[in-house]
Amino acid sequence: MMNDPKQAAGSTNKDRFQLVDGEALDTETAYRLLVGCVVPRPIAWITTVDEQGRVNAAPFSSFNYVATSPPMLAVNIALRPGSGNVKDTSRNIALTREFVVNIATEDQMDVMHRTAQEFGPEVSETEALGIDLLPSKHVRAPRIANSPVQMECKLDQIVTLGRGINTLYIGEVVAFHLADRVYDGHRVNSEAMRPVARLGGPFYAGLGEIFHRPMLQKPPGGEGWAPISSQSNPSS
Ligand SMILES: Cc1cc2nc3c(=O)[nH]c(=O)nc-3n(C[C@H](O)[C@H](O)[C@H](O)COP(=O)(O)O)c2cc1C
Repeated sequence: MMNDPKQAAGSTNKDRFQLVDGEALDTETAYRLLVGCVVPRPIAWITTVDEQGRVNAAPFSSFNYVATSPPMLAVNIALRPGSGNVKDTSRNIALTREFVVNIATEDQMDVMHRTAQEFGPEVSETEALGIDLLPSKHVRAPRIANSPVQMECKLDQIVTLGRGINTLYIGEVVAFHLADRVYDGHRVNSEAMRPVARLGGPFYAGLGEIFHRPMLQKPPGGEGWAPISSQSNPSS
């Protein structure tokens, strides 16, 4: 049954709120609040290569799609806390202007998690952890074979954010590779894909319950959209 949207939006809310001023926040507190508040986050399991062709893999959840024409993804990569060094993924993207975003799934969660370990730049995570790879079509970085969705990207822009700890890497998706089990040629089936999401701290989540509501504005292609007149009254 649908909730009454007026009641859900809530003039009856009795929560008490704590105010945390954002402007002067130290990086640790800001991080803790952001990763707790912005949940669940999809995980880009990114593969890159260095100048010698060594393959690097690491997960990044400060990630989303940001444009559709052409398709573009963005990922925020921080400097390494403590040393302030650039992470291998950042270095490789800046060097080669290419990367692959593999979507991390529940069955790959443990191995994906292990690729977040700090390996030296001379160590290939994929070799050390025995991750199977497939060649890409347009970029040198390979794809992770067991990920059902792999997106080959060419770097579009690097944007340094704020005080310089975080950098946004925006890439154009030049090829999507979609496993038959998740893609019927028209739509990607999230339930079949079983993506894993990042929460705050050491927590991950699966998809959980999936809800359906008809789209209220026509999206590109019209998928899932029904004119408002043909929808049932949400408060009835
Ligand atoms: C699930 C998960 C998500 C992460 N998301 C990010 C992120 O969005 N940005 C970031 O800078 N580091 C993130 N990290 C940490 C990096 O994966 C970690 O620093 C890794 O060692 C980087 O590897 P690299 O030096 O091979 O690039 C995340 C770690 C995990 C486990």
